[in-house]
Amino acid sequence: MDWTQIAFDLEADACPRVESMLGRSDVLAITYLDPGGRPVLEPEAGDPVLWPQVRIVALLEGPAAIGPIWAQLCAHLGREPPGWSVETVEDRPWERVWLDECVPLRFGDWLWVVPAGLEAPVPEAVNVRLDPGLAFGSGTHPSTALCLEWLAEFRPCGRSIVDYGCGSGILAVAALCLGARIAYGVDTDAQALLASRDNAERNGVSSRLRLLAADGAAPPAVDLVMANILARILCSLASELARLTRPGGTLVLAGILQDQVDTVAEAFGGAFRFESPRIRDGWVCLIGRRQGGLGCESPSGVGFDAL
Ligand SMILES: C[S@@+](CC[C@H](N)C(=O)[O-])C[C@H]1O[C@@H](n2cnc3c(N)ncnc32)[C@H](O)[C@@H]1O
Repeated sequence: MDWTQIAFDLEADACPRVESMLGRSDVLAITYLDPGGRPVLEPEAGDPVLWPQVRIVALLEGPAAIGPIWAQLCAHLGREPPGWSVETVEDRPWERVWLDECVPLRFGDWLWVVPAGLEAPVPEAVNVRLDPGLAFGSGTHPSTALCLEWLAEFRPCGRSIVDYGCGSGILAVAALCLGARIAYGVDTDAQALLASRDNAERNGVSSRLRLLAADGAAPPAVDLVMANILARILCSLASELARLTRPGGTLVLAGILQDQVDTVAEAFGGAFRFESPRIRDGWVCLIGRRQGGLGCESPSGVGFDAL
């Protein structure tokens, strides 16, 4: 069955009323888009940030439902909404569609991420076969790419690793394919843990990957901690990530925007010595070396546990 999508522009202050009206109709899903293409990152929970003008996209089961909804909408607004369009959306397995558009990606000289089902362009390279399923982490996002490039340079042979916010498991599985001894993948999302398990099996490294729910048992301190999440969450996890990185070990932080670097570095600063940031498309990766000694204290007052 195909779907029908109505889109139109609306002032932000009219959105709640229109959303509640559409919510009482046969509309299946409502998406808010920014007509100017400026993403909103890290809004507070329950505090949606809107642009002055919003593009609303409403999904319906088929064309039959449009008539009454359109009439209701126009009556509600007292006019036809500007910029309106109606289109048919083909029924496809959308969570799989990205795979058709994915190509193998190279990181550093010899690490490749190859979408499941495709041929590896360089069979003798380290090829990570990946299907993110419903989780984040295909290698295309700059923050993941920065982590993979660093990992290919670092060569984690024989190391123990935590991939905090593992998503598809891409970083943990890549590290294991590059020879890491053991990896722990941690996530709040059950879909991420499932995808990580599948990807570890796909690459024959599942016996060296332990998957943990973020609210369950914590991993032990390791040689290398990688966390590609978002700045605000990284800051809130500072003391846990510091505890997980053994003295002399390495911490890789990503998912940080350029104007957030100082805040993140300050949250971790007392416990880590950071290299110059690596930057791609406005996203930053911070590499830090865990300082030794007991009871490190960050300048921002985050108390790091004694090791
Ligand atoms: C941007 S994705 C990164 C996925 C993958 N590691 C990569 O580099 O592409 C962030 C992941 O962190 C998870 N996450 C968010 N908050 C978290 C938290 N407080 N603790 C653990 N995981 C968290 C999300 O569920 C998501 O899977």
